[in-house]
Amino acid sequence: MRIIVESNYDEMSKTAARIVADQVKRKPDCVLGLATGSTPLGMYRELIAMYQRNEVDFSRVKTFNLDEYYPLPADHPQSYHYFMYQNLFKHINVPREQIHIPQGIAADVEKACQEYEKAINAVGGIDLQVLGIGENGHIGFNEPAERMHVATHLTDLTEETVRVNSRFFSSLSEVPRQAVTMGMGTILKARRIILLANGPRKAQAIKEAVSGYITSKCPASFLQVHPDVILILDREAASLL
Ligand code: GLP
Repeated sequence: MRIIVESNYDEMSKTAARIVADQVKRKPDCVLGLATGSTPLGMYRELIAMYQRNEVDFSRVKTFNLDEYYPLPADHPQSYHYFMYQNLFKHINVPREQIHIPQGIAADVEKACQEYEKAINAVGGIDLQVLGIGENGHIGFNEPAERMHVATHLTDLTEETVRVNSRFFSSLSEVPRQAVTMGMGTILKARRIILLANGPRKAQAIKEAVSGYITSKCPASFLQVHPDVILILDREAASLL
C-alpha cells in the first residue's frame, strides 16, 4: 500500500486525475471503476479540464460505477446515475453504451447484480478502480458487518451511513435504506486501486484502513492485501497516521 499525502484537496484531486489520465493514455480501451460522493468531485473536474485541453481521450474507455441507491430511479437528482452524468459523463467523450452503473430499480435485483458482475468479467475486469471511503470505513456500500459480500449485491445501509448521506437529501426519511454495490471481491479483483480521502472526518477510518490488521469492522482495511493500492490523502485525512 502506497500512501501519498498532499497538502490540500486540490492537490489530492490533481494527483488522482493524473493517475487516471495516465491509465487511459497507457491503455486507451481500459476499464475504469468509478466512485461517487463529494471526494472525487475535484478529480472529475480535473479530468474534464484535461479532456477539454485534448490531453486525454475517453472514447474507448469502459466504466463501471461502484454502487447505486436502491430503490431510486436513474433520473432522481440524488441517484448516482444522475451524479455521474452531471459531474463527469456529460462533459467528456465516453460513449453512453460503454458506461455501466448498477440499476437503482430492477424487476429482479439479484439477477441484475449477477449480470453486473458478469459484464465486468466479460470486458476482462477493472484496470483501475477509484474509491472514496465512508466515515465508518465503508468502500462502495460495503458497510462494516460481521460478514462481507464477495460479489455485487443488494445491501442494507447502516443508520450511520443513512444519517451521513442525508446531507444530500431534503430530509432523513428520503434517504434510501438500501443500495446495490460491488462486493469486496469485485473491488479487490481490480488490477489497481486508488482511494481518495480528505478532511478530518475521514482520519479515523484511514487509520484503521492501514492498521496492519484486516477487519470487517473497517471494510477498507481489506485493501491492505491488494498488491497495488495507492491512498491519496490530504493532510487532515492523514492526521492520525
Ligand atoms: C457514499 C458512497 C461511497 C463514498 C462515500 C464517501 O456512501 N457509497 O462510495 O466513498 O459515500 O462519500 P464522500 O466522498 O461524500 O465523503
